[in-house]
Amino acid sequence: MYASGLFALLACLSLSTAQAPATQDLSGVSLAQLAYGGSGCPQGSLKFAELITPWRFVSITDGFTAAVGSNASVTDQRKACQINISLNYPAGLQFTLVNSTYSGYANLGYGVNGTHNLSMYFSGSSEQKAFPDTLQGTLDEKFTVYKLTHLETTDVWSPCGAPSPLNVVNELSVTQTGTGSLYDSGIMDLAFLWRTC
Ligand SMILES: *[C@@H]1O[C@H](CO)[C@@H](O)[C@H](O)[C@H]1NC(C)=O
Ligand SMILES: *[C@@H]1O[C@H](CO)[C@@H](O)[C@H](O)[C@H]1NC(C)=O
Ligand SMILES: *[C@@H]1O[C@H](CO)[C@@H](O)[C@H](O)[C@H]1NC(C)=O
Ligand SMILES: *[C@@H]1O[C@H](CO)[C@@H](O)[C@H](O)[C@H]1NC(C)=O
Ligand SMILES: *[C@@H]1O[C@H](CO)[C@@H](O)[C@H](O)[C@H]1NC(C)=O
Repeated sequence: MYASGLFALLACLSLSTAQAPATQDLSGVSLAQLAYGGSGCPQGSLKFAELITPWRFVSITDGFTAAVGSNASVTDQRKACQINISLNYPAGLQFTLVNSTYSGYANLGYGVNGTHNLSMYFSGSSEQKAFPDTLQGTLDEKFTVYKLTHLETTDVWSPCGAPSPLNVVNELSVTQTGTGSLYDSGIMDLAFLWRTC
């Protein structure tokens, strides 16, 4: 049931390259290394990851679900996927996250809320930014498709001087009583902004 929806979501995902106007030389920017883990993306669940342009990163992991109800355990109420994105880039440049898109299905009973919380930080820094979205039950279609987009400058920039991994945590949670589930397709579309420093 999820699979056909996932293909529909994939079809909707435009791979056109949205590029910010740049004055910097970004020819040295590339994906160096990727690490991932968490209850929402165990080892083996990563299917695709690419720095499409210096401004755009897309990753696809198996979808994951947070659920509450008769057959759900306490650990099902919260699921998270952390991705560490290490980029190569010349000293004198820094970047930040400006746009993130993810999507899935919500099936939330009366009184049940589902929260989708994307947070980011650079390794070695205590500065963090989170973008929580709460979907409120009852959502009475069997599955409500959602697509969430944030477009704002985080003001949390990579340190100047040496590259530092960007950590992105995609977390789903549902309230502790009632019946419901929140599903994330695992498709994450991130936009970066660069500047000289
Ligand atoms: C990502 O990096 C952080 C340190 O910044 C580390 O604690 C965490 O284990 C890393 N996660 C993965 C999935 O490698
Ligand atoms: C819970 O699990 C049982 C046994 O697998 C199944 O028969 C039942 O339909 C499930 N209930 C829900 C609400 O999924
Ligand atoms: C932000 O994401 C939305 C949805 O994918 C897209 O329409 C928009 O062009 C993006 N903006 C930037 C600056 O990348
Ligand atoms: C669900 O969200 C609504 C709106 O934010 C809030 O008023 C309500 O208390 C939340 N319910 C639960 C069970 O957390
Ligand atoms: C979102 O994630 C951040 C970072 O882990 C956390 O501090 C914050 O409490 C979370 N917000 C919600 C609503 O879950």
